[in-house]
Amino acid sequence: MTTPPPETADAPTAKSMEDIVALCKRRGFIFPASEIYGGINGFWDFGPLGVELKNNLRDAWWHDMVRCPPEGPDGESLSIVGLDSAIIQNPKVWEASGHVGGFNDPMVDDRETKQRFRADQLFGLFHYTAQPPGKDRLFFDDVKEKLSAGEFVAPLVTVVANSEEEAIRHFVGRDWKPPKPYKRDIIENFKLELNRPFDLSLLDSQGKQWYCMSIRIPLQVIENFTAQVPSPFSKDGKAGNLMNPRMFNLMFKTSVGAVQDEDSVVYLRPETAQGIFLNFKNVTDTQRVKVPFGIAQIGKAFRNEVTPRNYIFRSREFEQMEMEFFCHESEATKWYDFWVQTRLDWWKSLGISADNLQRRDHDAAELAHYSTACADIEYRYPFTAPGFGELEGIAHRGCYDLTQHQEHSGAKLTYFDQERNEHYLPHVIEPAAGLSRGVLVLLCEAYTPDPERPSKVYMKFHPRMAPIKAAIFPLVAKDGMPEVAQQLYDELRAKYAVQLDVKQNIGKRYARMDEAGTPYCFTIDGQTLEDQTVTIRERDTLSQERINIDQVGSYLADRIGG
Ligand code: GAP
Repeated sequence: MTTPPPETADAPTAKSMEDIVALCKRRGFIFPASEIYGGINGFWDFGPLGVELKNNLRDAWWHDMVRCPPEGPDGESLSIVGLDSAIIQNPKVWEASGHVGGFNDPMVDDRETKQRFRADQLFGLFHYTAQPPGKDRLFFDDVKEKLSAGEFVAPLVTVVANSEEEAIRHFVGRDWKPPKPYKRDIIENFKLELNRPFDLSLLDSQGKQWYCMSIRIPLQVIENFTAQVPSPFSKDGKAGNLMNPRMFNLMFKTSVGAVQDEDSVVYLRPETAQGIFLNFKNVTDTQRVKVPFGIAQIGKAFRNEVTPRNYIFRSREFEQMEMEFFCHESEATKWYDFWVQTRLDWWKSLGISADNLQRRDHDAAELAHYSTACADIEYRYPFTAPGFGELEGIAHRGCYDLTQHQEHSGAKLTYFDQERNEHYLPHVIEPAAGLSRGVLVLLCEAYTPDPERPSKVYMKFHPRMAPIKAAIFPLVAKDGMPEVAQQLYDELRAKYAVQLDVKQNIGKRYARMDEAGTPYCFTIDGQTLEDQTVTIRERDTLSQERINIDQVGSYLADRIGG
């Protein structure tokens, strides 16, 4: 619904989301769902390369978290078991978890355009005069202070965004035209001793300059002054089209059984986590697990997001990779610290550069009432750069969930710790990552413009993540080369995701594989027929060397594993 923020003018090396989306469409990573019917907002289909990429990320997580988890903080080996619970559960589950009562976003409708947005994502562009000098700071602070006290200050225009920074980038972007009678006059990196970058200035019809800044409009202000706040979809910046904010539950409802009434209402799960808590007792009763241990689950989650946006970053159907780590209360802080660091290191191990990742600890105001700590692992997405956006959250959930389910269900969920000779509800540390969002991170990180290549861009996936591990090309489709290529392909495909491509000239075939992010290409040429050697072309260095065709399997095994 909202326009993706344009690239900033001052970042020539910045990756463009538009280019990434175009490549993903062109090469078959991701398609809009129901595209031939005009699409459906917030839903995406993963194409042949996208599903391989997603499965590689999913399998790496499962391997590194369940099958072969890291050593614990004291060098001990960890025990984490898997689960695949139902998407639809008894609706009482979501009452106990707090999702029926509390999983709400404040939503505002524009009565003219029928567009809808999240009130907590509304930013205003506020202006203030720069004269007389010295008054600026005061006026700047005045606006902030008044808004935070719930008073109304008229924004010039509004926009839906995730942060002040993203909001201002919308206005600074080349496509944005200020409402009449203003003209835009961008001043980059200008500082008015305001301790923050100056955003942009507008010239009015008299040639007077107004300095402008973007500030989130507090919900209280939108509620109390709805009629005076301009809609982000208004063309002329005039107010009057917004309806009062309403709380909107994010869970998708459906019904089970032939009769549709209040009693048949069920929900699509908004997170995979609750299925784990529901099965805590089943797992401890049937498996040889002892606290501390974890239960992990990967699967679909559904949220009726008010404003799905930024490609697959926030969609309405997505996948999560969540693990609930159950431990004794006295050890919860130790495990929390361990998991935050372990998860950050894990993303780096997949080739995500440390510069593009950061840990952000939630402040007290952000924490759920039952949580004592929460940290996000954030990535510098093209649409948040130079800022960061969430990729994974690691939450210290206390014993909230087990307590809630114990109370609401009446089932006893306590654990008997033989070593401590104590019955208790374990505390929980939850690393919760988005699988779909992780795919977006892999795509953004891999996208590497290179004007020297025919493709002008290549996808620099970590070999473990690459959807196609190697391509096999006969140089020409004759002289026995296709037969040799076919034989090599048949051998390799039993173990690796490889592709055989016989069409087009070799340069075009390399270009195609560069865009797919294939780390190695093997070419069968005239010399192969004489001495059984093939050319290996390496994606990142573009180096070419010859090895014996019998060594191709071990060459891949050394670099990719398996
Ligand atoms: N059980 C905790 C939980 O669900 P969350 O922060 O709401 O926590 C965890 O979700 C992760 O799921 C997020 O860090 C994000 O990667 C992913 N996620 C959440 N909502 C999403 C959405 N609408 N679209 C894509 N990914 C989403």
